[in-house]
Amino acid sequence: MSCGIYKNLMKVLVTGGAGFIGSHTVDLLLQKGYEVRVLDLLQERVHPYGKPEYISKEVEFNQGDVSDRDAMLNALNGVEGVFHLAAYQDYMKDFSNFIKANTYSTALIFELIVEKKLNIKKIVLASSQSVYGEGKYTCKVHGIQYPDSRSVEQLEEADWEIHCPQAGCKEYLTSVLIDEAVTNPFTAYGISKEALDRLAVKLGKRYQLPTASMRYSIVQGPRNSFFNAYSGVCRIFTLRLINNKPPAIYEDGKQLRDYVHVLDVARANVLAFEDSRADYESFNVGGIEGINLLDYTKLLTKAAGKNIEPVVSGYFRYGDTRHTVSSSEKLKKLGWKNEHTLENIFKDYLKWVYEQPDLKDRYEEIEAIMKKQKVIRQSKIQALS
Ligand SMILES: NC(=O)c1ccc[n+]([C@@H]2O[C@H](COP(=O)([O-])OP(=O)(O)OC[C@H]3O[C@@H](n4cnc5c(N)ncnc54)[C@H](O)[C@@H]3O)[C@@H](O)[C@H]2O)c1
Repeated sequence: MSCGIYKNLMKVLVTGGAGFIGSHTVDLLLQKGYEVRVLDLLQERVHPYGKPEYISKEVEFNQGDVSDRDAMLNALNGVEGVFHLAAYQDYMKDFSNFIKANTYSTALIFELIVEKKLNIKKIVLASSQSVYGEGKYTCKVHGIQYPDSRSVEQLEEADWEIHCPQAGCKEYLTSVLIDEAVTNPFTAYGISKEALDRLAVKLGKRYQLPTASMRYSIVQGPRNSFFNAYSGVCRIFTLRLINNKPPAIYEDGKQLRDYVHVLDVARANVLAFEDSRADYESFNVGGIEGINLLDYTKLLTKAAGKNIEPVVSGYFRYGDTRHTVSSSEKLKKLGWKNEHTLENIFKDYLKWVYEQPDLKDRYEEIEAIMKKQKVIRQSKIQALS
């Protein structure tokens, strides 16, 4: 049932509230009459120019680290709800940073609430589709499978699809929509989010502190930092196109993903906060449907008003999943739905991009670093076009 008590004006904390999803969640909370405090480090790799102008003057802004006990205690004091959205996100190998920023900070929130008997009524946490690792598939012979990630040897052979993991089976798997039931992360980031998710449910239940973990698919829209290495395909391809260069597609471009508008994500966060049916649950927050990367690129190219063919180079990014498309059926049962199509995402994102001061395409610099670090690798296929 919709939970009336949360609708009474209350003060809430949004960690990571200067970021992409955090700031849109803050704006929606303010619109709904909540008082908002933000705790954000203004991490330099996301905010190289400091505090973003889009942060409302109505926000009480605390600059600080979510893994710092004093900063977190100050931020928690006097609020009745928490949105824990701050995170470290990257493809690099500083594994401990993921655990510190994402998981340790979550445990710290619970520790302080329990120790100081703080009057917090609900915590909504940013989890991620990455908790599913390679995702959910079906084999013609063996039925549903949750395979591990593909080996480097397989990818070097340009053998992109997933093999059935059952001994002796020669079938390729077909992807199916991912529900919330089984997690199987294989990156430090995914593991940090899976642990956050479990801490939330288990500690929440133990201490009667309602929580909801939100497993976002790829979130897109205005304010997605150009500088965040994780901000992904829309930003990278848009900057390539604006600079009249072709987007570079890894593998064969047939990999499926789902994309969700940041405003739909902000609504999901607030809904999960306000609705007690979401208590102690985890929810996928996904796009309308899956789309392969080639079709996605075509739509984006059209939206950008360009006539440029992408390059399918035969490179691959080691650690990428093949097909990951979430089902948001569970969240839809609470009344949420996608209000924005992929076309809306592109329109809103492009409008914002053209308002930014520096539209330089840095893809080649970043690609060179990722190749040196063997994150991006060449398969046996040479450039196809
Ligand atoms: N953007 C996506 O596609 C996506 C997908 C799945 C999950 N998520 C999760 O959603 C949340 C928000 O992501 P986003 O895309 O808005 O990222 P973002 O980088 O735009 O925002 C994150 C914010 O957290 C702050 N931050 C980072 N480390 C901090 C720390 N130690 N202490 C305090 N603040 C810190 C940053 O300064 C930034 O303002 C994250 O938890 C992320 O893991 C995002």
